[in-house]
Order: sequence, then C-alpha cells, then structure tokens
Amino acid sequence: MDHMKTLTRDKNNKKEIVSERGENMQNTAKPESNVILFSSAKGGSGCSFITTAISTYLARKTSVNVLLLDLNTGKRDSRVIFDVDDGNYKDYGDIGNAAGSLDTSVLKRLVINFDNSLHLIIPPLDPGKKEILEGDNFNRFLEGLRDHFDIICIDFPYHLFRYIDIGEIDIADRFVFVSLPDIVSINNTRILMEYIDNAKTHPGSYLVINKYNVRPAISPTGLTNILKFPVSSFIPYDRDIEFLINTRGPDYIFNYNLRIVRSISELSQKIYEELDL
Ligand SMILES: Nc1ncnc2c1ncn2[C@@H]1O[C@H](COP(=O)(O)OP(=O)(O)O)[C@@H](O)[C@H]1O
Ligand SMILES: [Mg+2]
Repeated sequence: MDHMKTLTRDKNNKKEIVSERGENMQNTAKPESNVILFSSAKGGSGCSFITTAISTYLARKTSVNVLLLDLNTGKRDSRVIFDVDDGNYKDYGDIGNAAGSLDTSVLKRLVINFDNSLHLIIPPLDPGKKEILEGDNFNRFLEGLRDHFDIICIDFPYHLFRYIDIGEIDIADRFVFVSLPDIVSINNTRILMEYIDNAKTHPGSYLVINKYNVRPAISPTGLTNILKFPVSSFIPYDRDIEFLINTRGPDYIFNYNLRIVRSISELSQKIYEELDL
C-alpha cells in the first residue's frame, strides 16, 4: 500500500526508520510522555497547518516517537495532506468504545506510520461519531497513547473544549495557541488562553502568530497589551508552501530553505528542547 508520498527522507537523519506499518509500535515511551495540545480560537487560523508541520519536524529531526492525533471529527484535512484518503485506513471512529481500553493490536490497526517515523491517527468523517468523547473514553484513550509515544501532538478544534473538561482531565503538558494577527483574532485568542490559564495553573504555553504578513496585523506592542503573553513565533504566510503541503505533504516542505520553514523549524526545536524527555 502506498501511503508514502510525503516521504523525502532527510539525509542527516540518523535515527532508525520504520520500515513497515506497525513495526515501531513497541512500548518504548518513557512514563513522562509529552502531550502538546494545539488549538485556535477559530477555524482557518492555521492550527492544523502548524500542528502538522511541527509534528513532522519532530519526527524528522529527533529520535523520539511522535504521534499526531487529529481530533477534527468530520474533517478530511489529514487524509488529504497525508494522502491517506483512499478508504484503506482506519480512524478512531472505527474503534468505538475500544478507545477506552487500547491494546497494542487495536493501536496497530489504528495508527498510520510514515517513513519519516511520524505516526498518525485520523478522525472519522462522520461528524456524529462521538464515542471517543463519551464518559471516560477520551481520558483513557489518551492514557493508552501516552504509553506508546514520547510526544503526542493533538490537533484540537476549539469546539471540543465544550466536551472535554481540561481541568479534570490531565489532557496536555504543553499548549500551542495559533492566532491570526488581526485584532478580533487576538482578542478571541485571549479568551482561549485565559480559559486554559484558569483550568491549569502554570500551563506550559506557546503563542504563535500565523500569517502575520498578509493580515491587517496589529503592532507587536498592541498585541502584547491585549494578550499579556510573549509571542513565541511569528509565522509568515507562504503561498508556495500552502500549495506544497496540500499536494506533496508536510515532509516535503522541509526541503526548502524559506523563511516560513526556518520559523517552523526554530519553533519546533524550541518546543522540543523544553519538553521533559
Ligand atoms: N503560514 C502559512 N503558510 C501557508 N499556508 C498556510 C499557513 N497557515 C495556514 N495555511 C493554509 O491555510 C489553510 C487553513 O489553515 P488550517 O491549518 O486548515 O486552519 P485551521 O486548522 O486553523 O482551521 C490551509 O490550506 C493551510 O495549509
Ligand atoms: Mg484544522
């Protein structure tokens, strides 16, 4: 099965590469596995773009076991970007209530493995499939995943905060907030960040301002006045990169020495260095 379109391997990457689906699924993660939750106050901010790019960077450049968990139920994005839209792949809707009692055989069927060592779990296309969020399922699903992966990057759509009580569930160790640079987006991001701040004392947070070069951006001072939080990274919009990630996959963009790629790489590196690995 060819699911390898994204896979131009970095020559400097010395780590062991997964050769076949499922081979790299032993329980290798340390107990202190790191869950990074990526979210935006509204759609179109580039949350999925940033999550995908950072997960891919971490898989390419480090020797840790990285999972990208896409929680966008009813959305096709990951299937398109990773070229796994041929109906041959399982999604977390297929495992139903087994989400709460993950064993290795379930995981092996669910996780899609790429040559660059990135692992991916995709959402069901049916927007009504919510078993994963019911009762204690999500908590247990995540605990199961923590046993198998060193880093779990969750693409977490905003509306899920309605279903998942992050004060109750130990959902994430780090938060990455992606915002557009306009004044409305920044104000909405502030609400989101305050919400997390109230639920978690001292959340490890990163604030990313995306597409800062194409939107009516507010000044860095105006930004800091509203958010009272330092910006970790300003990511430009790049039309060629948007085309490439959607047609050739996320691995491919790292072949280009462009400002956007350098910004993403630096941010990924910073996040990586600040994890408890
Ligand atoms: N900095 C960027 N450069 C180029 N394309 C981007 C950038 N940020 C987002 N995109 C593109 O913009 C579109 C919307 O981004 P997406 O990540 O889907 O937003 P969200 O997940 O927040 O709804 C996608 O086609 C994505 O590839
Ligand atoms: Mg998205």
